[in-house]
Amino acid sequence: MKRRGRLGVLTGGGDCAGLNAVIRAAVRTADSLGWESVGIQESFGGLLNTKRSRVLRPVDVRGILHTGGTILGTTNHGDPFRFPRRTPDGVVYVDRSAEVVANFKKLRLNGLIVIGGDGTLKIGHKLSEMGVPVVGVPKTIDNDVAATLMTFGFDSAVHVATEALDRLHTTASSHRRVMVLETMGRNVGWIALHSGVAGGADVILIPEIPFDIHKVCEKIRDRARRGRRFSIVVAAEGAVPIGGVQRFQEKAGLGFEGRLGGIGELVSERISKITGAETRSLVLGHLQRGGRPTNWDRLLGTRFGSAAVRAAVEGHWGQMVALRPPTIKLVPLSKAVAHLKRVPKASDIVRAARDLGIAFGD
Ligand code: F6P
Repeated sequence: MKRRGRLGVLTGGGDCAGLNAVIRAAVRTADSLGWESVGIQESFGGLLNTKRSRVLRPVDVRGILHTGGTILGTTNHGDPFRFPRRTPDGVVYVDRSAEVVANFKKLRLNGLIVIGGDGTLKIGHKLSEMGVPVVGVPKTIDNDVAATLMTFGFDSAVHVATEALDRLHTTASSHRRVMVLETMGRNVGWIALHSGVAGGADVILIPEIPFDIHKVCEKIRDRARRGRRFSIVVAAEGAVPIGGVQRFQEKAGLGFEGRLGGIGELVSERISKITGAETRSLVLGHLQRGGRPTNWDRLLGTRFGSAAVRAAVEGHWGQMVALRPPTIKLVPLSKAVAHLKRVPKASDIVRAARDLGIAFGD
């Protein structure tokens, strides 16, 4: 059958639950509208080497709705505008965007569905400014993409973090300990805030509200005075003490921004030292990104994937699908990548948390 057009689909940045739901919805919607889908492997890397692409038919996306990860593979190291190349003198960064544009044409694509977070969408936006017809789909557990109420992957991550808090609660109360859970969230505290409120935390530390460790300890002491001899602290990996800096496990290198981590342990050590309480900390890490998507992420991913293809078929290039309840709308990619969506300090969730006595250490 003659196809009306050909759409490339790629996933970029860190993986998260729900990516396969988007891919499945995109391929099936394209098929029902008479378009062919081409899966681009490993983010923009598949447009630097065209051998890393394959036609995706509905049969190729069977049985993946409930699975984690991405059948297309992904990377957070391969920005074609700043592609890392090792030389005898060290790493140099080269602009390979022209190759991406040339290969887009070589693959006879009529459009590109770019599924990714802030970094990937920025690349998509730059390519669209170079004339590549792009539609973006906002993904990330961090929930920090602007212009959409939510990204898919966030709900699954919050689900994992909340379950972790439930489990920590029982051991914290049995042992009368302070348990500190470090969640992901590079520059924003959405996961820590939502899971902290849903999981009944006593202290929530997020990058948007720098904390004073003595205020955190005051909250823990106050609980102890009232007979509550255990406490639960949730710290986003990007949380910062007042006047301090973010903690990195690994510095930036080879095209990536560096790995955050260690704030939970630091907070735990300080609480133990200042209050004398027995403390334990753990890093939830990539458990938040892997595994089955929640029903919400399957549904949101399906809505996004389908809406993105409809937008492409109708020629709405340079746009991103966005959750604007009660519906999915299109917003210019330029708006989506203009800034990160941070937790507003006066948001109703922060206010509700404070009303309930949850401390932010400020
Ligand atoms: O941006 C998503 C995210 O999961 C961040 O929350 C975290 O800092 C980062 O990715 C971790 O990336 P990596 O998989 O490279 O460790």
